[in-house]
Amino acid sequence: MKTIKIGMIGFGTIGVGVAKILAENRNIIKKRLGAEVELVKIADLDIITDRGIALAEGVLTTSVDEVINHPDISVCIELIGGYEPARTFMLQAIAQGKHVVTANKALLAKHGDELFLAVAQKGLSIGFEASIGGAIPIIRSMREAFVANQIQSIEGIVNGTANYILSKMSDENCDFDSALKEAQEKGFAEADPTFDIEGIDSAHKIAVLTSLAYGTPVPFDDIMVSGISNITADDIDCAREFGYRIKLLAISKYDGHSIDIRVHPAMIPISHPMANVNGSLNAIRVCDDLMEENVLIGHGAGALPTGSAVVGDVVEIARNILHGIGERVPAGSFQNNEIKSIPLKDISEVESDYFLRFSVLDKPGVLSKISGILGNHSISIESMIQKGRAGKGMGVPLVMMCHKASEKNIQSALKEIEELDMVCEKANLIRVEK
Ligand code: HSE
Repeated sequence: MKTIKIGMIGFGTIGVGVAKILAENRNIIKKRLGAEVELVKIADLDIITDRGIALAEGVLTTSVDEVINHPDISVCIELIGGYEPARTFMLQAIAQGKHVVTANKALLAKHGDELFLAVAQKGLSIGFEASIGGAIPIIRSMREAFVANQIQSIEGIVNGTANYILSKMSDENCDFDSALKEAQEKGFAEADPTFDIEGIDSAHKIAVLTSLAYGTPVPFDDIMVSGISNITADDIDCAREFGYRIKLLAISKYDGHSIDIRVHPAMIPISHPMANVNGSLNAIRVCDDLMEENVLIGHGAGALPTGSAVVGDVVEIARNILHGIGERVPAGSFQNNEIKSIPLKDISEVESDYFLRFSVLDKPGVLSKISGILGNHSISIESMIQKGRAGKGMGVPLVMMCHKASEKNIQSALKEIEELDMVCEKANLIRVEK
């Protein structure tokens, strides 16, 4: 029986998951592939810490070169994350004629074009299923299953850490910091958890999905990103009273002219297919001209779910190697000469419904003043709640749901409202996706 030899750079949470899967599920892989997959080298700076996994003598090394220049390794897995040195290592591995597999969404969002071109020039493959949605086969769906479909929108809960925090705050009244700590302990969070909380990780993922969906490069720095750090228990309670849940959503909508791409906390109705996707689960909803909607749900983070996506890519590449064929599916989903720049829509042009939370003095005339300003900016109020009564000189929460309005109008209205003496602090705005 043939053996496909592979090497890995990075032996952290996902790397350990990959090594475990290759060892413990070796037989099922062999039965499906008709060959063995052997992990012959793993490079990591730390080769001392016991990861609870038995490896043959000489597999672990601190030298990346031993993976990249290994004559028998045909597939190199990159699991160190971040831009550099991950980018350099991958380009070096490709230059050495190795197929590559990665879970690195940050690198793909910023340097995907360069990596895709490098593998195409060498007739090699790049697998990156593990970069988005962990075990959810969204990349394969985009590149292969939805090949005839004109995609119109993608909405995703694509960060397990943020979803874990929001779900805990909502269901268990847990505070933000302890929910984050648990997510870190479970191995969901990024090395820098601000990437999870501030929406940057979700932005990396929606940038990659957008480029696969519409065949366009996505200038990452132009994506509007806002995280969950100013979501309070009060917002979550109010959302519930209005019949909504708050989720960190990554959104990409294409109207045939421009792409509305953004990441922000959003209120979604409890009847929405993703409203009950909780904990570290991820969900990605794709709408198009053929299947209307397709919602994929699964574990978006953690050693084994993400490791399973990595191993799936390795086996797919191994099949090509065994059959002596090159990559059949373009890395970026479209033929290289068909990738054209589609402009991104300016956020000020985007329209949505809004939830607004003000802290205002509890005295006559406040409501009419605020609603007057909203009206002057063509913003219509759908419903409103004033929560409790405040003591003299203290703020009371005033929350309202507003009908569809443009971001430009809502931002100008909020600026005017925040200047009023009767408004105690900056308003909180949460967009509503229906
Ligand atoms: N930090 C990411 C998350 C890991 O929490 O979803 C998976 O990309």
